[in-house]
Amino acid sequence: CSFGQVKGVPLLEPTVQNWELVENFRAQPDDLLIATYPKAGTTWTQEIVDLILNDGDAEKCRRAPTHKRMPFLEMFPVPPLESGVSQLDKMPSPRVIKTHLPIQLVPQSFWDNNCKVIYMARNAKDSVVSYFYFDRMNRIQPDPGPWDQYLHKFMHGQLCCGYWCDHVKGYWREKETKRILYLLYEDMKENPRDEVIRVMRFLEHSLPDDIIDRITELTSFSTMKENPMANYSTIPDSVFDRSVSTFMRKGEVGDWLNHFSPEESRLFDEHYEKMMSGTSIPFRTQL
Ligand code: A3P
Repeated sequence: CSFGQVKGVPLLEPTVQNWELVENFRAQPDDLLIATYPKAGTTWTQEIVDLILNDGDAEKCRRAPTHKRMPFLEMFPVPPLESGVSQLDKMPSPRVIKTHLPIQLVPQSFWDNNCKVIYMARNAKDSVVSYFYFDRMNRIQPDPGPWDQYLHKFMHGQLCCGYWCDHVKGYWREKETKRILYLLYEDMKENPRDEVIRVMRFLEHSLPDDIIDRITELTSFSTMKENPMANYSTIPDSVFDRSVSTFMRKGEVGDWLNHFSPEESRLFDEHYEKMMSGTSIPFRTQL
């Protein structure tokens, strides 16, 4: 699978080919969109949301693997030929849909319907490390090449979904006027229970303390890593090369320290300062 472009943003070729269907997707007012730059904790957010919507019932959330429960908007717009109905059309309301699209590419119908969006962001350095492992294990993505070249591509917006900076800044800006809950991976790691409560309130749910505790525990890295309906272990080896990595790899803040050389870190920081000047998103690269 190679990259094409939509309005200057690199996206996987099948998404580009079906762009008209994606762009014209008809959202419903009770749709919830989970938006992330790749590797920011999409699956983690999804599990939290699913458990909240199901009042902490783990069995209900094990009804299907992650990617079937909440599909990606840009990957499943096409109805299978035999049925004429797409996976998204078949989902019961309220639908939870995921996307890696930058905000300017989110279909207008989400905004026309005033849909809620949960955006999860992760610091740039850990994001690129996680993305590197993922692209190496994922046989569907173009070959990522060596680390130093990959880092360069990330910094210059050449990976799938484009510039990390534009992505995180775009949703940050729009949260003033749209119903966007902006979460940070590092906050979630540091104080998961508080963040679960923020998500619950945003979803206008109310759950007792013991259920909140349970959801926090069920969505910890160690529990999710062992959950076959959350850890992508149902994806065949022909797609994910597990000799390279598992999907639930480390789940830490600061793993970039094991991958960036001091010189890479210096150049990255210089570039970052320029790209992020004037923004106030409180990212942390270590806890
Ligand atoms: P690492 O590669 O750093 O381990 P996404 O779901 O957006 O593709 O993000 C995947 C990243 O989130 C991986 O990061 C994965 O381990 C991490 N992750 C998934 N569930 C997590 C959890 N419950 N706690 C912490 N990190 C989690």
